[in-house]
Amino acid sequence: MKEKIKVLFICLGNICRSPAAEGAFKNLVKQRKLDHLFEIDSCGTSGYHDGELADPRTRKVAETRGIRLTHLSRKLTKSDLIHFDYLLVMDENNFHEVRSLTNESKIQDKILLFGKFRSDAGAPIVPDPYYKNETAFEKVQDLVEDCSLGFLNFLGEIE
Ligand code: 4NP
Repeated sequence: MKEKIKVLFICLGNICRSPAAEGAFKNLVKQRKLDHLFEIDSCGTSGYHDGELADPRTRKVAETRGIRLTHLSRKLTKSDLIHFDYLLVMDENNFHEVRSLTNESKIQDKILLFGKFRSDAGAPIVPDPYYKNETAFEKVQDLVEDCSLGFLNFLGEIE
């Protein structure tokens, strides 16, 4: 049997953007009946919120889209860099942080800005909503749903 495609979403705290992205992408592949083809997880470059559920604002917005987030925050590990096929980061800080952990080009090539899969011509980043209002969390949810579609289409073209 073909190996699963292993996808890891990465942000700073693993309580806002990356769990939202994990939930949106899992929801999409489930709707398309493709979930058996994937291993999907998320983590943070920091361990600030280790063991915590996603931020209540993130969970609330996801719920309105029919997505229940049960992920518990965890910090990125070196073995994640080897295990996962795609390391999808939310912004340039995450990108540089993850990239600084390896000199191997095979691993560096796995690190992609998730925002590059958005359908419009906006900046290829998912902005940190943590210190912002509820509208910022709704925007994150819209963006990660849009990027999930773009990323799945991308995989369809290359895998
Ligand atoms: P996230 O948002 O990286 O999207 O999970 C943040 C969550 C927590 C913090 C910063 C960003 N913090 O500083 O605690």
